[in-house]
Amino acid sequence: MGHLLSLTLVYLAYLLTTGIASQRQQHRVQHGSCTYTFILPEVEHCQPLKDFQVTNTLQRDSPPRAEPDKSHSKDDLSQEERPSWQQQKLETLESAMENNTQWLQKLENFIQENVRSGVEEIKRSTVHTQTAAMLQMGTNLLSQSAEQTRKLTDVETQVLNQTSRLEIQLLEYSLFTNRLEKHIILQTQEISRLSDKNSFLEQRLLALEARYGKELQDLQGEKQQLQDVLERQSHVVSQLQGELGSSMLNSTALQRQQERLTDTVEQLLTKVSQCNEISNMPKTERRTFRDCAEILRSGVKESGLYSIHLHNSTQDVKVYCDMKTRGGGWTVLQHRSNGSIDFHRSWNDYKSGFGVPSGEHWLGNDIIHKLTSSQEYSLHIQLRDREGNEAFSQYDHFYIDDEDNNYSLHIKGFSGTAGKTSSLTHTGSQFSTKDRDNDRCTCKCAQLASGGWWFDACGPSNLNGIYYPVSSNVVRFNGIKWYYWKGPNLMATLTTMMVRPANFR
Ligand SMILES: *[C@@H]1O[C@H](CO)[C@@H](O)[C@H](O)[C@H]1NC(C)=O
Ligand SMILES: *[C@@H]1O[C@H](CO)[C@@H](O)[C@H](O)[C@H]1NC(C)=O
Ligand SMILES: *[C@@H]1O[C@H](CO)[C@@H](O)[C@H](O)[C@H]1NC(C)=O
Ligand SMILES: *[C@@H]1O[C@H](CO)[C@@H](O)[C@H](O)[C@H]1NC(C)=O
Ligand SMILES: *[C@@H]1O[C@H](CO)[C@@H](O)[C@H](O)[C@H]1NC(C)=O
Ligand SMILES: *[C@@H]1O[C@H](CO)[C@@H](O)[C@H](O)[C@H]1NC(C)=O
Repeated sequence: MGHLLSLTLVYLAYLLTTGIASQRQQHRVQHGSCTYTFILPEVEHCQPLKDFQVTNTLQRDSPPRAEPDKSHSKDDLSQEERPSWQQQKLETLESAMENNTQWLQKLENFIQENVRSGVEEIKRSTVHTQTAAMLQMGTNLLSQSAEQTRKLTDVETQVLNQTSRLEIQLLEYSLFTNRLEKHIILQTQEISRLSDKNSFLEQRLLALEARYGKELQDLQGEKQQLQDVLERQSHVVSQLQGELGSSMLNSTALQRQQERLTDTVEQLLTKVSQCNEISNMPKTERRTFRDCAEILRSGVKESGLYSIHLHNSTQDVKVYCDMKTRGGGWTVLQHRSNGSIDFHRSWNDYKSGFGVPSGEHWLGNDIIHKLTSSQEYSLHIQLRDREGNEAFSQYDHFYIDDEDNNYSLHIKGFSGTAGKTSSLTHTGSQFSTKDRDNDRCTCKCAQLASGGWWFDACGPSNLNGIYYPVSSNVVRFNGIKWYYWKGPNLMATLTTMMVRPANFR
C-alpha cells in the first residue's frame, strides 16, 4: 500500500514534470520533519525558476514492508502464526489503504483533468491561483497519508510486540513442556525401576511360597501320621482300660472265690481234725489214696473228681469217682456220654490217656496197668442204649499187663445183665490201636472197628468205637459194640468202665 502511495506520488511528480514540459514551477511543502517538493508546469508567460529540482523524499516514509529485507524475514515467518484477530486488523488496514489508493486515483484523474483544463485555463491566464489551491489540496493529502502511515506503523509495532510476546510465551511453554517431558521420563524410569523391583520381589515371594508350601505339606503329612499313631495308641489304651476293668472284675471274683475256698479249707480242716480224733491218727500225716474206694472209705460220699496216688509211683492222677453205683468207690477208666471226644486214636494216646475225667475220656493204659496190678480189682461196665435201657457186665477179677506185653487183658468171673455171655474177648488178648495192630486177624481190627481195644479176630465188643447217637437201620461195624447185649449195632448213648478193689465191702 505504501508502495502504491509512493508510486502514485512519483507518477504525480512525473506527470507534473512531463505534462507541463518546459514551463516548470517549484513548490515546497513543509510537514513535520518531512519536506515535500512539487514541481509544477509553468505557464508560458511565467518565468522559469532557477533551481528546479525533484526530490523524492517521500520514499523514506513508505512502510517498511514495502521493501522486504533480512530484518523482516522473521516477521513474515511469524505472520503465519499470528492470531486471526491480527489478520482481521491487517485486512481492515489494507482495505483502508485500498480505499485511500482509490481515492488517490480519483484524485489523480481529477488532477490530470485539472492539469489539462489548467493548461487551457493557464492559456487563458488564470492557472496560477488554481495551481495554488491544488497544491494546498495535495499538501493536505500528503499529510493525511503520512498520518495513515504512522498509524499503520504503530499497528505493526503492536502486532510485532504481540507476536514477540506470544513467541516468548511459546518459548516458555516449550521450556515448560521440556521440563515436564524430562520429569515424565524420570518418573517413567522410576516406575520401571519400581516395577522391576516389584517383579523381583514377586519372584522371591513365589519361591518362598513354593518352599514353605512343600515344608507345610511335609509337616501336615507328619501330623497326619502322628494323629494316626495317636488314634492307634488311644485305641490300645481304651482296650487296655477295658481289659483292666474286666481283670479288676476277675480279681474281685477271684477274691470272692479265694474267700470261699478259705472257708471250705477251714471247714475241711475242722472235718479232718474230727476224723483224726476219731481214728486217732497223727494230725501231721498227709493222707493219700490209691483209688476211689479209699476215698470213699475216708468218708467222701460225693461222686466227682479226685486225686489218687498210684502205688509204687510218684505220680498223682486225677480220676472220676463214682460213689453211687452199687455202693460206690468206683474208679472210672472209660466214659462216653455224647461223642464229644474222638476215640479213634494212636497207641501213645491210649498209653497216656485222653479226654477230661469229668467227661468223656480214657484214663490211660499205663495207669490202668499200674492200678489193676497193685491189687485185685473187679471191673464194672455200665451201658445205656438209645431208648434209655440200662445194663451192666461185671468181672470179679480184672487187670492188664504193662506196655511190653501190649497191655494184654486178664478177666475172670463174669456176671451181669448186658448179655448172658461175656462180650469181652478172652484172656490174653493184646491191645491194638490204628497204628499198632496186635490182633489175631489178618485184617487190622483197630482200623476196621475205629478205636483202640482188645481185639481177637476183631471179637464181639469195642466200647471205643464210633459214637453214633441217632438211630439208623444201617448196620455199622465200627460203632460202639457190646455184641451179646444188643447185637452188632448197639448205638449206646452211655458207657462207663470202672474198677473197684475185688475185696470191696
Ligand atoms: C472504504 O470505502 C467504502 C465506500 O467507499 C466504505 O464503505 C468502507 O467502509 C471504506 N473502508 C474503510 C476501511 O474505510
Ligand atoms: C511492548 O511490550 C512491552 C513489554 O514487552 C511493553 O512494555 C510495551 O508497552 C509494549 N508496547 C506496546 C506499544 O504495546
Ligand atoms: C476274666 O475271666 C474270664 C473267664 O472267667 C476270661 O475269659 C477272661 O480272659 C479274664 N480276663 C482277664 C483280663 O483275665
Ligand atoms: C514196686 O517197685 C519195686 C521196685 O521198683 C518192685 O520191686 C515191686 O515189685 C513193686 N511193687 C509192685 C506191687 O509192683
Ligand atoms: C459232653 O459232655 C460233657 C460232660 O459230660 C460236657 O462237658 C461236654 O460239653 C459235652 N459235649 C457235647 C458236644 O455235648
Ligand atoms: C507187642 O506188639 C508188637 C507189635 O505191635 C510186637 O512186636 C511185640 O512182639 C508184641 N509183644 C508181645 C509180648 O507180644
